[in-house]
Amino acid sequence: MVSLVRALLFCLRCLPAEVAHRVTLMALDGAHRLGLLTGWQRRVPAHPVDVMGLTFPNPVGLAAGLDKNGEHIDALGSLGFGFVEIGTVTPQPQPGNPKPRLFRLPEHGAIINRMGFNNHGLEALVGNVRQSGYRGVLGINVGKNKSTPEDQAAGDYRAGIEAVYPCADYITVNVSSPNTPGLRDLQFGDALRDLLASVKAEQTRQQDKTGRYVPIAVKIAPDMDDAAIAFVADALLASGLDAVIATNTTVDRAAVKVHPLAGEAGGLSGRPVREPSLRMIHALRRHLGDQMPIIGVGGIEDGVSAREKIEAGASLVQIYTGLIYKGPALVQEAVEAIAGAGKK
Ligand SMILES: Cc1cc2nc3c(=O)[nH]c(=O)nc-3n(C[C@H](O)[C@H](O)[C@H](O)COP(=O)(O)O)c2cc1C
Repeated sequence: MVSLVRALLFCLRCLPAEVAHRVTLMALDGAHRLGLLTGWQRRVPAHPVDVMGLTFPNPVGLAAGLDKNGEHIDALGSLGFGFVEIGTVTPQPQPGNPKPRLFRLPEHGAIINRMGFNNHGLEALVGNVRQSGYRGVLGINVGKNKSTPEDQAAGDYRAGIEAVYPCADYITVNVSSPNTPGLRDLQFGDALRDLLASVKAEQTRQQDKTGRYVPIAVKIAPDMDDAAIAFVADALLASGLDAVIATNTTVDRAAVKVHPLAGEAGGLSGRPVREPSLRMIHALRRHLGDQMPIIGVGGIEDGVSAREKIEAGASLVQIYTGLIYKGPALVQEAVEAIAGAGKK
């Protein structure tokens, strides 16, 4: 199976990146239906952790954006991840940006994307979740439609929380994609404070309605100076929300500036975001003390890069780009590195 997956990934290198991602997910679905993925899960050691009031079988999760509509939850869930985050989903379906919008920079272990929240909307995602047989920890990441004015953004987030609340183990509020104009402005000043208050109010409303508390995490960008990080940390603590996810992709191109694709607009992920994300986790942990868990994401491509995020103060980690380049064996490697560090 390992060589089959490697051969598939190799063949896919000659296809446009977005087509290759789609074909890989379809092949994974097929392999799952044939029962070929059960071995992956068994190989990953149990390393349970309690975070946000939930028990995760291991601390290594799939980051948002690979399964935006929740169409591949069962297959992705059988790769050994301790949790799977789907989305970003917006209230209404939207096509995203024109293609090409996904670029691989293999020399840097990196991807540039400007997908622009292409997704089928809340109704389709909730239907897919209900049909899935996955019983692990499921996060659902919500965002705003491109056409929604910034001063009405909170309404989109509230609609997202309301729709996914009954079927999510945790919800992520994504204010950090660089590919929706104005979205990242929601990370600063009164816009952030007002949005977090509105999100908290919706969570409380849903808790009263359903009798169930679903924790909410806020996902932030790595492109922040120390003052901005301190502000975000204070606002998060004041909000009463449950966790912070650090980080999304970066708009900085310093690490890849000589690459011919460096000028492509969008968010850069993978190896170049490893250090910026780690710096954010260190700074957030300093400001947050032990008051709020951090989910560390950005540039995990081996056991060392996974473990360093936990050592910097993250309780959980997530992977996207590393999975594309290294395949699902990375999940096992990351869990073993983290579990091994805990035993020292
Ligand atoms: C093609 C692509 C699409 C993404 N889409 C989303 C998304 O819809 N929502 C989100 O919160 N993050 C999205 N991300 C960001 C990842 O979840 C992750 O935060 C970022 O890529 C850094 O992790 P990595 O270096 O392991 O990829 C996307 C990343 C990539 C590469």
